[in-house]
Amino acid sequence: MIHIRKMHPEDAEQVIRLSSAARIQVYQDLISADRRAAFMDSQSTDLAMLSKKIRQLQNRLNDTSKMTLVAEEDGSVIGYCAATVGENAVYLSNLYVHPKHQGKGAGKLLFAALKKHYPHKSMRLHVVGENARALSLYEKLGFKKIESRPSTYFGLSRILMEASADIDFSL
Ligand SMILES: CC(C)(COP(=O)(O)OP(=O)(O)OC[C@H]1O[C@@H](n2cnc3c(N)ncnc32)[C@H](O)[C@@H]1OP(=O)(O)O)[C@@H](O)C(=O)NCCC(=O)NCCS
Repeated sequence: MIHIRKMHPEDAEQVIRLSSAARIQVYQDLISADRRAAFMDSQSTDLAMLSKKIRQLQNRLNDTSKMTLVAEEDGSVIGYCAATVGENAVYLSNLYVHPKHQGKGAGKLLFAALKKHYPHKSMRLHVVGENARALSLYEKLGFKKIESRPSTYFGLSRILMEASADIDFSL
């Protein structure tokens, strides 16, 4: 069974590994050949890069304006989401489920758990416009497109989306 809880410092390595695996899965075929090597470098989990990313993520946990949740199954962290909490809106900066565990409901459970923490705030996020699957998930959840920006992430476009505070994310 999938269980959602706040992230602990010791989850950091699993979170970084699953995020890299999910980003590579979704973006490597969308990014043009000339930018692919730079993208793959940015996702490296070699020891130096891993320790730096672990420190950054662990520091985030001490920031009271941030909320970071993980999805756990059989003792393993299989997904995570990271949000910044503003006065009226929650900004979702990351949502990743490990490729081996996608399609089992972890993404939806992470959304629902985040919303439960902030029932009276609207939610905003950026999605890569070429990421059809994520875009369709957000539209199904009730997010509306606010603005589009071309070529901001390794040549891919980004769309800002918003869901009003009264949406409960039950699909
Ligand atoms: C997008 C993502 C977070 C969704 O998490 P998930 O746990 O796989 O999603 P869920 O199982 O909760 O399913 C939610 C919806 O995702 C979509 N989805 C899930 N698995 C899918 C699949 N195999 N094929 C197509 N769509 C799928 C569907 O819209 C699904 O809704 P439905 O069950 O009503 O059909 C996850 O797939 C992921 O990490 N993808 C790669 C990284 C990414 O794109 N992150 C978002 C960046 S903005």
